[in-house]
Amino acid sequence: MSPFQRISSFLRTPFASSGRKRIEAFVDKEKPQPLLRCFSYEEIAKATNSFHPEYLVAIGGYSEVYRGDLDDGNTIAVKRLAKDNSDQNKEKEFLMELGIIGHVNHPNTASLVGCCVENGLYLIFNFYPNGTLASALHGKVGPSLEWPVRYKIALGIARGLHYLHKCCKHRIIHRDIKASNVLLAPDYEPQISDFGLAKWLPSKWTHHAYFMHGIVDEKTDVFAFGILLLEIITGRKPVDSSQQNILLWAKPLMESGNVEELADPSLERKYDVNQMDRLILTASYCVRQSSIWRPSMAEVLQLLMYGEDSEAAENWRLPKMRAEEMDDTCLLFGYELPSDIVFEDIL
Ligand SMILES: Nc1ncnc2c1ncn2[C@@H]1O[C@H](COP(=O)(O)OP(=O)(O)O)[C@@H](O)[C@H]1O
Ligand SMILES: [Mg+2]
Repeated sequence: MSPFQRISSFLRTPFASSGRKRIEAFVDKEKPQPLLRCFSYEEIAKATNSFHPEYLVAIGGYSEVYRGDLDDGNTIAVKRLAKDNSDQNKEKEFLMELGIIGHVNHPNTASLVGCCVENGLYLIFNFYPNGTLASALHGKVGPSLEWPVRYKIALGIARGLHYLHKCCKHRIIHRDIKASNVLLAPDYEPQISDFGLAKWLPSKWTHHAYFMHGIVDEKTDVFAFGILLLEIITGRKPVDSSQQNILLWAKPLMESGNVEELADPSLERKYDVNQMDRLILTASYCVRQSSIWRPSMAEVLQLLMYGEDSEAAENWRLPKMRAEEMDDTCLLFGYELPSDIVFEDIL
């Protein structure tokens, strides 16, 4: 099948799905399904000044992203599969991303505007001038993110992930949740992006079968979300320049409830104490060693909004003995990171 035929078969889904049933969930408002546009190569070449280096925004794992100015005044981001990429798997990932992102539709997931299949493969998105959560938290330019914005971002990412795991028509695990894959809209509403590694979740499965065969489930995203929360709270990178791992640094402080030490110094203690406590509590549950001890994203939302008072906090609070047993296990395995996580991937 030619790339064009493959793309056309993918695109049929979003075009034909206007009659989609709305899923009622207390946090999920679906946006109207946008129609995708097929761009000509001429159009995107003109918008990016023939992919001029001045228009290059970022070089990702297997793609280059350019800013593009359209004749109608709109600004787009053009994601192009790296030119010299002869790896068939990369093309597959690109097409997978197109299939998945064309299917998702939520205020906290990046929306695809269209694609171009002439002279290569290109995905076209709205351009987000506020960049990514990684640049907002760790970038050298601009003021530090204030607490209300950080809290809004944490809640928005949780809503987007809950939608992917539970509410969209075909459930999805993202598998690459990290700060550089969260774009920030003009009002700082976070948009989960980069679905290149995402996978469809089966509609029915026995958790046991997945667990036994070591197949990752959505709890991998929950762990990565916990690390993101720690980044938002502390302003630290997952692994800093002296190779210090955020989790190993934060764990004793979370256990002893040392909020002042955990909080990003650039916040200058200007944060809502209750919201901060709830984020720390949620992070501590999400980053548990064993995936079966991590909450679901629906429970994460309860924890973020109601903290210790939520049913989820009650359900996931470990008895003292159990916590100690878990720590013994951690010690036994050298306090290693969870087996379903490749920490370097979160960088
Ligand atoms: N719509 C967009 N608006 C602005 N910048 C973007 C947009 N999409 C991607 N980027 C930038 O490009 C980078 C790489 O994009 P991403 O989709 O994550 O590709 P990769 O799979 O190669 O990592 C992002 O981290 C971000 O800096
Ligand atoms: Mg990326």
